[in-house]
Amino acid sequence: MKKNPQHRIEELRDLIREHDHRYFVLAQPSISDFEYDQLLKELNQFESENPHLITPDSPTQRVGSDLSKEFKPVQHKTQMLSLANIYSEEELVDFDRRVREGLPQGEKVEYVCELKIDGVSVSLRYIDGMLKVAATRGDGAVGDEVTNNVRTIRSVPLSVKRNFLKDLLLDEFEVRGEVYMELETFKKLNEERELNGEKTFANPRNSAAGTLKLQDPQVVAKRPLQIFLYYLFSEKDDLKYQHENLQLLDLLGFRINKNFRLCKNLDEVIEFCREWEAKKDELPYEIDGVVIKVNSLKQQKILGNIAKSPRWAAAYKFKPKQATTLLNNITWQVGRTGSLTPVAELKPIFLAGSTISRATLHNIDEIRRKDIREGDLVVIEKGGDVIPKVVSVDLSKRSENSEEIKLPNTCPACGSKLFKPADEVAVYCDNSLCPEQIKGRILHFASRGAMDIEGLGEALVNLFVDLGFLHDYSDIYSLNQKREKLVNIERLGEKSIDNLLNAIEESKKRSFDKVLFALGIRYVGAGAAKKLAQHFLSIDKLSEATEEEIESIHEIGPSISKSVKRFFSDENNSKLIERLNKAGINFSLEKKETESSKFQGKYFVLTGTLFSMSREEAKEKIEKNGGHVSSSVSRNTHYVIAGENSGSKLDKAQKLDITILTEEQFLELIK
Ligand code: IVH
Repeated sequence: MKKNPQHRIEELRDLIREHDHRYFVLAQPSISDFEYDQLLKELNQFESENPHLITPDSPTQRVGSDLSKEFKPVQHKTQMLSLANIYSEEELVDFDRRVREGLPQGEKVEYVCELKIDGVSVSLRYIDGMLKVAATRGDGAVGDEVTNNVRTIRSVPLSVKRNFLKDLLLDEFEVRGEVYMELETFKKLNEERELNGEKTFANPRNSAAGTLKLQDPQVVAKRPLQIFLYYLFSEKDDLKYQHENLQLLDLLGFRINKNFRLCKNLDEVIEFCREWEAKKDELPYEIDGVVIKVNSLKQQKILGNIAKSPRWAAAYKFKPKQATTLLNNITWQVGRTGSLTPVAELKPIFLAGSTISRATLHNIDEIRRKDIREGDLVVIEKGGDVIPKVVSVDLSKRSENSEEIKLPNTCPACGSKLFKPADEVAVYCDNSLCPEQIKGRILHFASRGAMDIEGLGEALVNLFVDLGFLHDYSDIYSLNQKREKLVNIERLGEKSIDNLLNAIEESKKRSFDKVLFALGIRYVGAGAAKKLAQHFLSIDKLSEATEEEIESIHEIGPSISKSVKRFFSDENNSKLIERLNKAGINFSLEKKETESSKFQGKYFVLTGTLFSMSREEAKEKIEKNGGHVSSSVSRNTHYVIAGENSGSKLDKAQKLDITILTEEQFLELIK
């Protein structure tokens, strides 16, 4: 007898979900791969015959085919906090004391200790039991939507068991956790990339982050990511304890890390930290510490947050991993500003998930202070940051004929003479046409926070400079005239060149502040570039400005103003700008458009921390609607917008009887 397709489809989905859960969440499969594939095949068959019965939470719908060109911003319902770090047991004692001081006297405090997974935090929103939105943390208030990529993680339920939901009345809830890549997957991925001549990832965290932000979910699905969930939030307020929430997550089918422990007191917390510091390397994934959370949600509420981290939780960080290896020699790297940085070339050694063959030595003073020499046996360390450093030298193993390191006499890249500014430790190559400086400047110009030209990375820039296609960054925009020659370069080919040329064309849309940052004016970082762009609105105005005018901008100091003046007085730079201008690059900012005049003539004061936007953004919104923002409260103030932890300005406003707006009320007003 032929079964009703709807019934069989649902039966198959439930079975597959059950086996996915067993395999990907519990790591306890109960059927063979073959049997599993048969189920999936049958479901696919039924669904292709009955396409109207396909639902988004069907196991066949994990991997979408839509490319996400841009990741849409997602406003988090409650802020995604980060944690204050703790580096020693003494600091743990302080943390416990502060927690108890923040609670009614004599109240008992229990802690949940969890492993701190070294990955990327994400938030998953479920509505009526179905996964609706997945987002990255972003700045804590607004993240990027990565739903399609998160759906490919097989341990993430696309829908949760509805019968549980009914009992618990969780018709809308949010879970948060950490997406990570297992060490084994990471190693394989890097091996593959190396074989294909692609850049390898520095560590599993970067590779998880990179994978999560890929445009094509089909590629994401091939690089298996994993997830641990550690946080459950629902408007319904009958959640009471963190350890119960973890159990509830488990019950709902989410993958939690079972190595958590409910600790009755600080001693038990310390024991947990010691235990995991000693056995962290036994895990198949990286952890970089222990997260300690006050167990009672009621107590968490009382304790609250300071700025962006909670008072009720902290991250105990493990000591960085160290290893000993041979320092073969020291080379000098020339940066885009000409500065020479010493680099330790090491005998390759595997440490904390990757092979290390180089470490930065910062500058000559540091080398002298640590007395580092070629041929030394050195201790290297890989902390939270990606770049490993040399910690110390094992002097007992030093050979007798070793010599102190000296600064080179000339630039190692171009042979030009070097100079040392009086107020700096670094030495500089004096030749602005030095190939290494050129490469550095072009690479910076094309980099992410600047013109963001996808595909124009280190390898291509080096190649194009060496082959004479690029002499400066303005040449990037004439590459399209050399297409025929470019496609003939070995290993490149038509498709990759066309993609690159499209990305270059696309970069012409970048706004003036990005362009200004991309120019690589010394001391002008992304933030300063934005301020300069907003103040002067065009490159002509900026290049004509006096040092005093530039310095009059809030938070712009004399080193920036001097450097800007120097940049524009160099004839070569003027020529560069002219060429970029001809290519159609944005050298001015549209004057801010006004959206309405509803705040015409009104004065606002901002105080405290805003959650959904920065102060700059709030100011922009007010000005766009015709209002003004001043820094102190007076009788002329019309509104005070009070964020979290507002202080004396709020008191003053209350005294003067000025209208006080909460952030939500302000958001309503500007809708
Ligand atoms: S709790 C207030 N628990 O560590 C709660 N975080 O800065 C904040 N992380 O952004 C997060 N494992 O990405 C929590 N078991 C865990 C975690 C964890 C890793 C990450 C998370 C967060 C960062 C803390």
